[in-house]
Amino acid sequence: MLGGGRGSCHGGKVAIMTTTGRVLFSAVILFSSVALGQSATPAPVQAHYTADGRLMFPGQYRQWVYLTSGFDMSYSAAANGRHHLFDNLFVNPEAYRAFLATGAWSDGTMLVLELRSAGPRDPISPRGTYQGDDVVGVEVHVKDESRFTGGWGFFSFDGKGPAKLLPQSATCYSCHATHGAVDTTFVQFYPTLLPIARSKGTLSASYEQETAATAER
Ligand code: HEC
Repeated sequence: MLGGGRGSCHGGKVAIMTTTGRVLFSAVILFSSVALGQSATPAPVQAHYTADGRLMFPGQYRQWVYLTSGFDMSYSAAANGRHHLFDNLFVNPEAYRAFLATGAWSDGTMLVLELRSAGPRDPISPRGTYQGDDVVGVEVHVKDESRFTGGWGFFSFDGKGPAKLLPQSATCYSCHATHGAVDTTFVQFYPTLLPIARSKGTLSASYEQETAATAER
């Protein structure tokens, strides 16, 4: 028998059409966002390690959030003052958003410092100095409380191969712990972050003492 109860057949058809319509409609939305290269939420950035604990090169860091550039900020003994050096700092987007909200670095933070030498003088702007296209080093500071003593690990890449964790005895840890304004990082030199740390009250005690002492001089 076709059509059992009154109107059931008709009702059924409407239901089918509506469902099909919805499915088609969402397929169109999905297709257009894929076609436009949008994805609702990009996958969070994570540090990846080899089985023996070396950090894989974070190849996408240029697509993260840019924090600042330094010029001749080099503190390494190898820097001889004859070559100018720029540095550019990037942080993974999730850590940046967490910092804006709290003034502190969340677990999983990755700060990538890219070092570039200055390009040769160019007649178009003979007094100016610009960044050359060669990356001379990449240094990474990663927060992972379950992995590193003290919560943070330092890595230094001179190519794109995985880098070994620098030992706790390296001067990286002591200088950053003593002079960094927020949780062993140099937020005092990151102009968009310093006011946030100040307003959230997350500046380190040692940094507060250092700035107070400098102000008294
Ligand atoms: C004498 C002090 C000193 C030592 C030693 C030192 N740093 Fe730094 N570091 C700084 C300063 C100052 C900055 C601030 C920004 C800049 O260089 O532009 C910085 C910034 C950084 C940053 C950017 C993120 C952050 O934590 O603020 C990384 C990554 C970094 N250093 C890695 C290293 C590594 C790796 C070593 C050891 C091989 C090291 N640093 C040793 C002073 C130091």
